[in-house]
Amino acid sequence: DASDIEKGTYPHFMLKEIDEQPFVIRKIIQEYQNENDEIKLDPDVRQAMMDCDRVYIIACGTSYHAGLIGKQFIEKLANVPVEVHVASEFSYNMPLLSEKPLFVYISQSGETADSRAVLVETKAKGHPALTITNVPGSTLSREADYTLHLHAGPEIAVASTKAYTAQMAVLAILAVDTAKAKGIELEFNPMKELGIAANAMEALCDQKEELEQIAADYLSTTRNCFFIGRSQDYYVGLEGALKLKEISYIQAEGFAGGELKHGTIALIEEGTPVVALATQENVNYSIRGNVKEVAARGAKPCVISMKGLDQENDAFVIPQVHELLTPLVSVVPMQLISYYAALHRDCDVDKPRNLAKSVTVE
Ligand code: G6P
Repeated sequence: DASDIEKGTYPHFMLKEIDEQPFVIRKIIQEYQNENDEIKLDPDVRQAMMDCDRVYIIACGTSYHAGLIGKQFIEKLANVPVEVHVASEFSYNMPLLSEKPLFVYISQSGETADSRAVLVETKAKGHPALTITNVPGSTLSREADYTLHLHAGPEIAVASTKAYTAQMAVLAILAVDTAKAKGIELEFNPMKELGIAANAMEALCDQKEELEQIAADYLSTTRNCFFIGRSQDYYVGLEGALKLKEISYIQAEGFAGGELKHGTIALIEEGTPVVALATQENVNYSIRGNVKEVAARGAKPCVISMKGLDQENDAFVIPQVHELLTPLVSVVPMQLISYYAALHRDCDVDKPRNLAKSVTVE
């Protein structure tokens, strides 16, 4: 059938979509750049970012995790305060809003009912809305004032991969564009750094055998698995845990490294796999401390670090990229480890039980 043709030589859409990520990032660089190598972005979006006093990011699932990283970009680069909310929570428990909010809806499909419910409500209140989506003609795109397109190509696998990395790339460009519009001097060249990240992603896609072995060693029979990290690594850990539970049905949770001692560490047993991310220099020492804490209680740590911060016995080392963009790269080994864990456990990778690609009911 048609789906076999689209998959080409790949056994699953998920694997194909993981491999497409470096090309998607390069496509985004192209689409968001003019002939003078300047950022090309809808001037109305720029104005909306300039006019607001606070950004409210609304999303669900993996898109919510991209929003957590987007907050880092927008606050650190453009100096605009950002809140990130799960759509279904925001609907029923709306926080106090600032005077001039800008709502940013992040949605791969542009059809998620939980996010749409918030959009309808905030539009009714007269607040401007920007949708960042992979489907420009979608409901969320049509009903918002502005749209930024992800250019990731159709994502078929239920577990989102390339849309997540595309969302982060577009958010980084948006943040830099806003910074420039505000006259903020930046050392950070987003297109150059995204290009470096794309090359790193491509290198990781060539290390499938190594990552399949990690999945076999740590995840083939385990009942649960924890992901720890600090700052950006914590948010990527949340996404790593979500990927793993979605497709392998392993009970997986992401935690902030410093919170372990406040409860979660009670769950560590002999042999519990703990995936620890170490890509941020300022927290490298403290996350290494957390790894020692869990190892001392019998856990089997699987450290994924970045070159330059790596230590002996790390399970996997990603290439060095700009510290802000590490999530685009460190998520790739986690996607692949989840993929192989699901494969080894005979799970239906592209169509996991109980899940839908886009959820159009609240
Ligand atoms: C569903 C999918 C998730 C996705 C979420 C949000 O639950 O299974 O993979 O992250 O919806 O989807 P959206 O299209 O709004 O990004």
